[in-house]
Amino acid sequence: MKEYFKAERVSENVWWVGAIDWNVRNFHGYETSRGTSYNAFLIMDKKITLVDTAKACFAGELLARIASVIDPSKIDIIISNHAEPDHSGALPALIAATQPEKVVASVAGVRTLRAYYGEDLAIDAVKTGDTLSLGKGTLSFVDTKMLHWPDSMICYYDRDKVLFSQDALGMHLASSELWADQLDPSILDYEARKYFANILNFQAPRVLELLDSLPGLGLDISIIAPDHGPLWRKDLETIIGIYRRAAEQRPKRKALIAYSTMWGATARCANALADGLRSQGVAVVVTDLYVSHRSAIMTEVSDAGIIAFGAPTMNNQMYPAMADVLTYIKGLKPKNKIGFAFGAYGWSGEGAKQIAAELDAMGVQQPVALRQVKYMPTTADLEAFFACGVELAKALG
Ligand code: FEO
Repeated sequence: MKEYFKAERVSENVWWVGAIDWNVRNFHGYETSRGTSYNAFLIMDKKITLVDTAKACFAGELLARIASVIDPSKIDIIISNHAEPDHSGALPALIAATQPEKVVASVAGVRTLRAYYGEDLAIDAVKTGDTLSLGKGTLSFVDTKMLHWPDSMICYYDRDKVLFSQDALGMHLASSELWADQLDPSILDYEARKYFANILNFQAPRVLELLDSLPGLGLDISIIAPDHGPLWRKDLETIIGIYRRAAEQRPKRKALIAYSTMWGATARCANALADGLRSQGVAVVVTDLYVSHRSAIMTEVSDAGIIAFGAPTMNNQMYPAMADVLTYIKGLKPKNKIGFAFGAYGWSGEGAKQIAAELDAMGVQQPVALRQVKYMPTTADLEAFFACGVELAKALG
């Protein structure tokens, strides 16, 4: 059965031929509340070139969009900027349908694509500084190792001044509009920060290096075309600024309080703590892990100066939902935080101690000692939690 999709023009010689994943909500553990897109681009030069593909299940959509511009069998070159299957899953189907003379990836990309799709996959490796003439225009490549996979790279098409930035400078956002300037800036800001926090935060120093190196690469960029979310043709500094601020990890006068609760005791402690922080002018976000996904919590962590986690003890362990969230956050390596551990217990009381140990393992300072209550907080306990909030606010400065 034929699929019916149209390409959309990006510039004189570049077309968007990607896929919109309106319904995805679980992107390897990241809650994509607004769906996402897998952007792929067709360059109509003498050598017709496809930049990136999509998830395997979207191969038909890509081929239909390409066919709205040109017979897919006319494609000469496929560039794979990133081997993760959301961009390479459809690569075998695209190779089979187009029989290109050349497939190109980074050195690590060649290894990874072969590991995924077979050692006999014919791919040429490129590295930073390499160029590929398409006839009238030229593609130049920049290795962006560990942003966010070892194989990641970006490329630039000089004829139309388009930077294909791959995952970098992207966000998970499905929209009928192709361009960022057609969308609500507050949604762009939130989704870009969320994307950075959950995908790139662990490599924040390398993101800063890349952003700092861009001017030195001498690229005259008119369009930033990431592989997720909208493209940028105006105010390019907006998305670069969001990424730069996120990578700098400067803490705001803000606290995140995330907790789990069995019978309401830890929740009551969380609320008293919140009021203590608020009394000192600290903006507070309080959430039960039951209602907030780990990726939404990481987004709040990313710009908070204080991160407080509370959980009851269950079966001698911290509540499992808290272990999930802390494991996830630890891997993303947040910096410049003050931490606080708290909770409620009935008899053994390991919960808050385990949270404190996890914060230690993240390198998060805890200027206020962990606090636990037995069964249900008394008024004196709640006053003590209020005071902890005041102390934490003072420690934040
Ligand atoms: Fe969008 Fe790292 O894949």
